[in-house]
Amino acid sequence: MEKEKLIAEIKRLREEKNAVIMAHYYQTGDIQDIADYVGDSLALAQWAAKTNADIIVMCGVHFMGETAKILCPDRKVLVPDMAAGCSLADSCPADAFEQFVKSHPDHTVISYVNTTAAVKALTDVVVTSTNAKKIVDQFPKDAKLVFGPDRNLGNYINSVTGRSMLLWDGACHVHEQFSLEKLLKLKETYPNAVVLAHPECKKQVLMLADVVGSTQALLNYATESDKKEFLVATESGILHEMQKRNPEKTFIPVPPDDNTCACNECNFMRLNTLEKLYLCLRDEQPEITVDEDIRIKAIKPIQRMLEMS
Ligand code: 13P
Ligand code: SF4
Repeated sequence: MEKEKLIAEIKRLREEKNAVIMAHYYQTGDIQDIADYVGDSLALAQWAAKTNADIIVMCGVHFMGETAKILCPDRKVLVPDMAAGCSLADSCPADAFEQFVKSHPDHTVISYVNTTAAVKALTDVVVTSTNAKKIVDQFPKDAKLVFGPDRNLGNYINSVTGRSMLLWDGACHVHEQFSLEKLLKLKETYPNAVVLAHPECKKQVLMLADVVGSTQALLNYATESDKKEFLVATESGILHEMQKRNPEKTFIPVPPDDNTCACNECNFMRLNTLEKLYLCLRDEQPEITVDEDIRIKAIKPIQRMLEMS
């Protein structure tokens, strides 16, 4: 089907079925442009908690759909491609995390939202990259904390909050592969550029960054800053909204550590396409389901996050 026809059909089906389309900033530009809401992981959870729509189409990865389903069990939650997983969530299997948690029984368990529902069910409070510092700061300085699964975000939060949380050794394959060498070269070429980096990046990249923040924080900074050039070390989908809000500014994606100069894209996020979005609205599948026992346990740390944000 032609792109214009696909867009018209998606709009018609959305209206007819009282559906809402939510998209993460790492989706392709055409999906972001048709979505009712575009945001980071925190915003997607907050909108899902409030929506009156009968169907939520989550254009992102599986754990984002799961979070929406945990919060809205009576709604149909669809994802355009069920194979859209997350290497970070995969780096933390629930059974191994359970052993880790059990071996530190006197610790409060803080989990990044990039986890399966089963891991959330083992968690005391969920965080996202937007609210992690704010939430960790609300615990007493001497609180014993376990943080999973992202070691880079965990290390970063330890450094900015003065904590020594015990960290799970997981990571995101996209944010870990930014090339230090290429970033240094870009800094030479654009000496006035501001370096923006997501806290899921390795420490060496964060040390070269002028601003470290969640997808939303980096977007806000780029929009509010009077600087004109930015080197962006996070998934390159965010450049769509950065450029849209700031047409007069220049955004340069920091490339990955491979032999190309290509942008750093999350292959899971990019599984979603306009065509699959249309098909999933039309057929009302693939649908996210969550085991009710797990859902009841997993909703508590998510609600706690929403209260503490
Ligand atoms: P945020 O949306 O919290 O910035 O997280 C980035 C990410 O990797 C989402 O999968
Ligand atoms: Fe997961 Fe990384 Fe992709 Fe985000 S960018 S969905 S953390 S693999």
